[in-house]
Amino acid sequence: AVKYRPFEPVKLTDRTWPDATISRPPIWCAVDLRDGNQALIEPMGTDRKLKMFNLLVEMGFKEIEVGFPAASQTDFDFLRLLIDEGRIPADVTIQVLTQAREELIARTFEAIQGAPRAIVHLYNSTSELQRRVVFRTDREGIIALAVKGAKIVKRYADEARARGQEIVHQYSPESFTGTELDFAVDICKAVMDVWEPTPEKRVILNLPATVEMSSPNVHADQVEWFCRALPNRDCAIISVHPHNDRGCAVAAAELAVMAGAQRVEGTLFGNGERTGNVDLITLGMNLFTQGVDPGIDFSDMKRIVAMAEECNRIPVHVRHPWAGELVFTAFSGSHQDAINKGLKAMRETNQPLWEVPYLPIDPADIGRSYEAVIRVNSQSGKGGVAHILERDFDLKIPRGMQVEFAKVVQQLADKTGEEQTSDLIWRAFEQTYLYEGSGRFSF
Ligand code: KIV
Ligand code: ZN
Repeated sequence: AVKYRPFEPVKLTDRTWPDATISRPPIWCAVDLRDGNQALIEPMGTDRKLKMFNLLVEMGFKEIEVGFPAASQTDFDFLRLLIDEGRIPADVTIQVLTQAREELIARTFEAIQGAPRAIVHLYNSTSELQRRVVFRTDREGIIALAVKGAKIVKRYADEARARGQEIVHQYSPESFTGTELDFAVDICKAVMDVWEPTPEKRVILNLPATVEMSSPNVHADQVEWFCRALPNRDCAIISVHPHNDRGCAVAAAELAVMAGAQRVEGTLFGNGERTGNVDLITLGMNLFTQGVDPGIDFSDMKRIVAMAEECNRIPVHVRHPWAGELVFTAFSGSHQDAINKGLKAMRETNQPLWEVPYLPIDPADIGRSYEAVIRVNSQSGKGGVAHILERDFDLKIPRGMQVEFAKVVQQLADKTGEEQTSDLIWRAFEQTYLYEGSGRFSF
């Protein structure tokens, strides 16, 4: 049964409809172990890497960038461990990053030797700024570098294929967002000419927003322009790799997919360089709540949060979309009241679509419950207080008493500025109504 409204029926007005929607998930590639890891204060060692890898596998990611083995001994050793101990499931493809130098490419293929299938990800920077100040060369010089790297990768890939490995080629014009579009197409075309992909054996062209430089619609226009201008478009999978410098990476990825991107690289909770990579949790959950199966298992979000926090040693914000500790918590009385009415209406009408005010999804879908998160503070009203008495102490109080007691609790909360836990509420109840001399009701 469809629980969430799919994109299609969303009308803007009676006569207008959105002109683009996402009706199926992109190919996901999780880059936590590479881009995420390289940005950590304390990069992961083998134990944490293995935990992160297993988590990504359990969640259903089929493409996982495991590291930059030619640049890091830890990454190299981790790849050997995964391969030598047979820890890569048959339906999961590992991805490794390399620059365009022979010794780095040789070491990269050494790291993945024996893996049944691997994506070898070649990159070099292409932006006008990097050409001018970092590489001090012109467009031709940068194309020559990419072509040289592509040729070396092809040579090593052919040898690996002869040994029975399946090697997929990926190329990133790094700093795509600062690269003239015609040049981005030219350099990708030059690399494709070396790798000679076909519609059956496609190359991955990854367009990194290495630095997010524009609003999401402009990024989407860049992706769309690129897709239209690329010759042999059917021989390439167009991938995006948004970073979050302007805080718009999720929107940028969604619009890019609407503009033609077929694949998205990102990380759990958006860990990554500077402000991070695009957050795959938010992207996947956004699809899920629009009636599109993301192909990722979010059913135990608490565990996903705990594992990511353990591996990254970075806390997930309590208000993180879909996953934060507080996102299914209603403190205010009017919200609690509306939620309770919505839940009651759902029960009574047996209606299949989730429709509860202030609760965009059923928390149970990600292994959480609304019941457990009603909390009371100075903003709460009689509904929340009555709910806690009934839930935790099996005590139903009449409406007049609810109004009266809510005022008592509110005064306490105002005085202390603190949340009123079950215990505090019960103590207040005892002091107000049950203690001898309280002068109120006697039971
Ligand atoms: O952000 C970036 O440009 C990268 C590339 C190496 C793909 O991480
Ligand atoms: Zn990146």
